[in-house]
Amino acid sequence: MTSPMRNIAVIGAGQMGTGIAQTCAAQGMTVMLTDVDLPRAEAGKAAIGKALAKLMGRGKIEADEAEKLLARITPVADYAPFAEADLIIEAATEREEIKNAIFEKAGQVLATGAIMASNTSSIPITRMANHSPDPARFIGLHFFNPVPVMGLIEVIPGLATAKETTDAVTAFARGLGKEVVLSQDEPGFVVNRILLPMINEAVFVLGQSTAGIEDIDKGCRLGLNHPMGPLQLADFVGLDTCLDIINVLYTTTRDSKYRPAPLLVKYVEAGWLGRKTGRGFYDYSGEVPVPTR
Ligand code: CAA
Repeated sequence: MTSPMRNIAVIGAGQMGTGIAQTCAAQGMTVMLTDVDLPRAEAGKAAIGKALAKLMGRGKIEADEAEKLLARITPVADYAPFAEADLIIEAATEREEIKNAIFEKAGQVLATGAIMASNTSSIPITRMANHSPDPARFIGLHFFNPVPVMGLIEVIPGLATAKETTDAVTAFARGLGKEVVLSQDEPGFVVNRILLPMINEAVFVLGQSTAGIEDIDKGCRLGLNHPMGPLQLADFVGLDTCLDIINVLYTTTRDSKYRPAPLLVKYVEAGWLGRKTGRGFYDYSGEVPVPTR
């Protein structure tokens, strides 16, 4: 199914934003990519170039195809060019105040009929929609990391989201070659509501010395056939992001089963945030990751 939305704006040039930009450009869409400043947006495009070079090295993509894909992505300094976008996707830090400020600012240029979406992992869509110019055209569009590889997008309409908006972004998601799961606007939606308690529990298991880091991961890889163990996956997602999500589950439901594991809080306080900082439950400075406990 081809979506009529071809002009996409992505806010946030980190792991998720660059993955979304690459995936859209791979389908022939034009993408404007922005971050807090132009150098960060440019660094995001450079990271996509690096990922494509890796794929070229493995014979997964031809050089001219990679070049064309990259040419469809334009780093931009501010939101003014987003007036041309059919769809604005916010993929910034998982903090509500940061996202709300983005919706208010980007909302000033949102074209009539264009849609604004958030890639939030857990923050209520209905609440954030109030910071957009038109809650009927605001929706959750939750991608999974690494975006070019993962086959799923969660679509989360808020209370005020129009059916036309849900239909349009569902067609857009399918146009990216992804399957769609429709979720109600409940904390953590579907996948993170299940995933984050698992990761958090793995950190409790570690904190209580029931098993070490490698055995916890091995247990889930071999015993459950997961591609990564929960602590490896936590490092992959980012421990700060994991803590942010479990905190949203905890504070919005007030259910003690979602209380963050104290050791997870400690790792974040230490600045050991996972792969992106070179150290989380594993140390990534050498050839192979080494457990930190
Ligand atoms: N663009 C396109 N393709 C890419 C790519 C990119 N940037 N990066 C990797 N690939 C492709 C590779 O070419 C490879 O393709 P083939 O299988 O056809 O050879 C495939 O992806 C796998 O890559 P690798 O061989 O490098 O790595 P791997 O086999 O070790 O798999 C993994 C890596 C896909 C990450 C796998 O370990 C995995 O699935 N892990 C679990 C990931 C997961 O659970 N993600 C969800 C996290 S939760 C989330 O995102 C939501 C949230 O809100 C927190």
